[in-house]
Amino acid sequence: MKHGFKIIFALMLCLLLLGCGADRPMEEGEENDLIVVGFSQIGAESNWRVANTESIQAALSEENGFMLILDNARQQQENQLKAVRTFIQQGVDYIVLAPIVESGWESVLEEAKREGIPVIIIDRRVEVSNQGLFTAWIGANFRQEAETAVSWLEEELLLSGREDEPINILHVQGTLGGTAQIERSAGLLEAVERHSNWTVTAQLVGEYTQAKGYEVVLEYLRQNRDIDVLYCENDDMAFGAMQAMDELNIEYGADGGVIVISFDAARTALEACMAGKINLCVECNPLHGPKVAELIWQMEEGVLPRKENFVDEGSFTTEMLTEELIANRAY
Ligand code: AHR
Repeated sequence: MKHGFKIIFALMLCLLLLGCGADRPMEEGEENDLIVVGFSQIGAESNWRVANTESIQAALSEENGFMLILDNARQQQENQLKAVRTFIQQGVDYIVLAPIVESGWESVLEEAKREGIPVIIIDRRVEVSNQGLFTAWIGANFRQEAETAVSWLEEELLLSGREDEPINILHVQGTLGGTAQIERSAGLLEAVERHSNWTVTAQLVGEYTQAKGYEVVLEYLRQNRDIDVLYCENDDMAFGAMQAMDELNIEYGADGGVIVISFDAARTALEACMAGKINLCVECNPLHGPKVAELIWQMEEGVLPRKENFVDEGSFTTEMLTEELIANRAY
């Protein structure tokens, strides 16, 4: 822990202990050797994001030797830039950044580098000319996720003898410019190029939230109900879209009607998949906390961590799910 921060932290802890009437206030000169980590999180837009924050909080706990300063940017890159600059001023030991979009990070990462503060990027990526501006990245293979989704769709259409029929796809996108959106969209559009009978009828931006997903899908379906597939770039938007289809009496899911594909595979989506409402849940693993802690401990020991760190992921269809499997999921 940096010296200035250590003093402030010790004073704060003293006040806290006194305020809580704890048995023994910290004694003068007593030091706390926690590793201070500033974490700039995008927000709390989805179940996935909440699970991601909780994973970081659990791994970087005081019992594990960390003091975590969490900043929720409420979906604004500007707030993330401010948070990172504040962490630099505070002299934290490490910065963890979950960037909302890929661009616009160069200057602030240069500032962190100048101060010698290692930055770990999690989830989406940053686009920078110098890869040395951050120490490591931890996250999902979003392109692979999209490929899993389109391969499954190809197979599904083949099995149902619809491989040559015209297929209308409604594409609901997450926050534009973030890696999850870029890669999940690119994977779909590449597949549409390969299939002359597949058409993306519209691309709607649902910002990864259920409310926005509901709003844009409802508005669209009121004008045009002729869709075969709903490709939703996360579970929360899929829930919003299903709400809209329920309202308009449009059938969907494993028993027939619109084929629903969703990304994340959080518990609530798996429950909907088991109930036959979502045809395919492609997993995006939010549990980055243990890996972040592992990389920090490596750096504490003077080891340079691996630059790219992918988390494990799978996919689920209705037939694969059991109550036991869902109950045992961590998110
Ligand atoms: O960047 C990962 C995406 O962000 C998740 O799929 C989505 O749910 C989240 O908000």
